[in-house]
Amino acid sequence: MSTADWKNYEPVLIPNIKDLHKIDVYIKNGGYEGLKSVLTDKQKWENPKSVIEEVKAANIRGRGGAGFNAGLKWSFMPPADGGPRYLACNGDESEPGTFKDRKIFEYNPHAFIEGALIAAYAMEITTIYVYIRGEYKAYIRMMEKALEDAYEKGFIGKNILGSNYSVDFYVTGGAGAYICGEETSMLESLEGKRGYPRVKPPFPAQKGLWGRPTTINNIETLAHVTSVINRGADWFKSVGAENHPGPILYGISGHVNRPGVYELPSGVPVLDLIHDMAGGIRNGKKLKAVIPGGSSTPVVRADQLDGISMDSDSLRTVGTMLGTAGLVVMDEDTDMVDMLWRITHFYHHESCGQCTPCREGTGWLEKIMLKIKNGDGEIKDLDLLLDITTQMEGRTICALADAAAWPVRHTITRFRDEFEARCKKSVHAVA
Ligand code: NAI
Ligand code: SF4
Repeated sequence: MSTADWKNYEPVLIPNIKDLHKIDVYIKNGGYEGLKSVLTDKQKWENPKSVIEEVKAANIRGRGGAGFNAGLKWSFMPPADGGPRYLACNGDESEPGTFKDRKIFEYNPHAFIEGALIAAYAMEITTIYVYIRGEYKAYIRMMEKALEDAYEKGFIGKNILGSNYSVDFYVTGGAGAYICGEETSMLESLEGKRGYPRVKPPFPAQKGLWGRPTTINNIETLAHVTSVINRGADWFKSVGAENHPGPILYGISGHVNRPGVYELPSGVPVLDLIHDMAGGIRNGKKLKAVIPGGSSTPVVRADQLDGISMDSDSLRTVGTMLGTAGLVVMDEDTDMVDMLWRITHFYHHESCGQCTPCREGTGWLEKIMLKIKNGDGEIKDLDLLLDITTQMEGRTICALADAAAWPVRHTITRFRDEFEARCKKSVHAVA
């Protein structure tokens, strides 16, 4: 289905089926057939590698924000040596503006569980962990129940469905820090330690949980694996935008009439998402700006959005990214200075403090933004902020420092008039 037909798309991950979270309803609707197929249909799936090839061909771009080809990531796992190997499923979603994985936990947990089991089989993995954001207490309980049911039906455990494949699957509640969603920090947290990101390389495939080969995938990414196995890589690639194919769970929040999570093909025009799906801007106001994919993706002005769609290529033309497809919509009354201060406050609070440019940089960004927000800023402070962002970017262990720097740089650049109006005119600015 091309992006142009997006209004006719029938949701696959969050379809309108009552009680789909219950295992019997899931099975009645074709659930666990994909797992059965990869484990028992040797004509179709000659070996685990053939599953990896299909997923690689589908080009599922990781839905956690970075967009890395999931099948390619799987292929980085070294050959099995008889020792433990892990799949760590990242359900720690904490990026401001991102709330789509929880929809899967709530409405279709078995699509995720099945995808994770298929992934584990493909990579000859012996243990799966799902790490769920600590605040998602209800979803943690739901996942525990869904796993219990899947164990009971023989989809998890020893010799699954009579095959010689066995795997265990555990739920872990997150430690309550944004940084624990960074993949290597999540590994530290799973090992029972403080969530400090690790230096990469080595990548987790080489040295992951307890030093063993580990793959980390986002929840939505793994749920799409189930569809790829059931419907084929060609189907997945035929949905949506060419370079970022497949359905996407768009999380739309902010000043719209109908905020929520919508499953649609990738590449839907941004303005259609806002006006057709989300019911337009509330109170009849005008659109001012959007953040397309979670708080780290650069803000875009409304006048830049004509013809721009939710895919990485299109968004790149206006200097931003798809990220997690968590679209934050801002109306004409939004105070961009206030908005940016909140973002700087968040990243400063969440920095783990290991790297000086991040620990100190996020602190200075917040401090200067607070000064500007309170009306005590000077125009030279804007250039100081931009200078700090260049001192932070690309100089740290993980991407949090970049994620903190980009919103500052792009919001100031794109709404400079608004920031200048808030600043006192300094001697330097006049000179
Ligand atoms: P990344 O681009 O560094 O890596 C992406 C994935 O590919 C990782 O799993 C990494 O291990 C793997 N990879 C990359 N190069 C590799 C290589 N040469 N060999 C083997 N594996 C390789 O991005 P990262 O740090 O995983 O994620 C950053 C993104 O996370 C940001 O774009 C941000 O939007 C997003 N994010 C999402 C959150 C959420 O709530 N979903 C929270 C915070 C950030
Ligand atoms: Fe910690 Fe920030 Fe360094 Fe990431 S960049 S490891 S959050 S100090």
